[in-house]
Amino acid sequence: MEWALYEPEVGYYEQGSPIGPDYLTSPHLAADFAQLLAVQIHQFWQILGSPTGFSVIEMGAGSGQLAWDWLTYVQTNYPPFWQALDYRILERSATLQRLQQERLAAFADKVGWWDGAEQDGIPDQSVTGCFFSNELVDAFPVHRVQVQGGALREIYVEVGESGFQEVVGELSTPALRQYFVRLGIPIESYPEGYQTEVNLKALDWLEWLARKLRRGYVLTLDYGHTADRYYSPHRSQGTLLAYRQHSTYADPYVQVGSQDLTAHVDFTTLQQVGEILGLQTLGWTRQSSFLVCLGLTERLAALSQATDTVDISQVLQRRQALHALLDPIGLGGFGVLVQAKGLTDLERTHPLQGFCEPERTR
Ligand SMILES: C[S@@+](CC[C@H](N)C(=O)[O-])C[C@H]1O[C@@H](n2cnc3c(N)ncnc32)[C@H](O)[C@@H]1O
Repeated sequence: MEWALYEPEVGYYEQGSPIGPDYLTSPHLAADFAQLLAVQIHQFWQILGSPTGFSVIEMGAGSGQLAWDWLTYVQTNYPPFWQALDYRILERSATLQRLQQERLAAFADKVGWWDGAEQDGIPDQSVTGCFFSNELVDAFPVHRVQVQGGALREIYVEVGESGFQEVVGELSTPALRQYFVRLGIPIESYPEGYQTEVNLKALDWLEWLARKLRRGYVLTLDYGHTADRYYSPHRSQGTLLAYRQHSTYADPYVQVGSQDLTAHVDFTTLQQVGEILGLQTLGWTRQSSFLVCLGLTERLAALSQATDTVDISQVLQRRQALHALLDPIGLGGFGVLVQAKGLTDLERTHPLQGFCEPERTR
């Protein structure tokens, strides 16, 4: 998965922006998505007392569309925040980084790039601000595991005479078994052949964030479940999927490098491990609820009042896009997690705009 997605020149994310030809993410539906994230992040800045220096670090920026819409909106609508802002992009793919730099050339004074979470030139405890990502964690390579004879084993990939083949062997690291022990999930008693994935990279990433962040927030949007749903005995084939030309495929071994590979995110582990690392959970909800709290309904209402001056087909297109952002079985069902570090009690308990509805647990 690591090679298929990120190997220089041949990996999926090294071949240009996949977003559009193979799948659409929220920022590509409507600028409203980035703008509503800006509303929330602006409030983060205010809660911290509007500091004169505030870093916003977008991790995994894809085509740069979200950054463009976010920066355009903040520059126009929040001048004092703009003054305090330092926007950084953390992007692993060299190809996408180049694409983002071209796209964001107009913001060259405001935006800088870091190479990826593995690159570590950033001093510990140096960031005051907000780390955020949309559909980053699902793009980390995962370990695949299987229950065999009452034990947890790992699924490896070999190249045989007829191409890629799966081979089951010992776990590559005890961290895989510990993962389920921490969750209290008795996976070894699950039915013979049960398969799932474990995203250990997400834990490294969280550890890195917690180390870099001095004071501020981590905002994570992605598709996923709480652990009890993710690792339910009924979900016996895991969530690893391939995306190609707007369809999903279960076979990761075809069109390698030309299709995206992803696995859902276990939001319970992000929260549990975050707490251990000093990242306190301030809120967890679904994207539909989060965007409605930040003003999406008002935007939809304003749209239905849009009149003569506006092209009707554009209005309809945008309305369709806003509904898609809310669709509970699509993008609206994504998880939204806000964690924080280094806040005072008053700051930590300040109500967040995106969490105006009671929290959901599933
Ligand atoms: C599914 S795309 C999402 C792009 C964008 N956020 C969006 O919503 O359209 C995943 C992005 O994360 C980047 N990425 C994956 N692993 C990364 C890492 N460890 N550090 C930084 N970026 C990473 C990929 O290169 C790609 O830009």
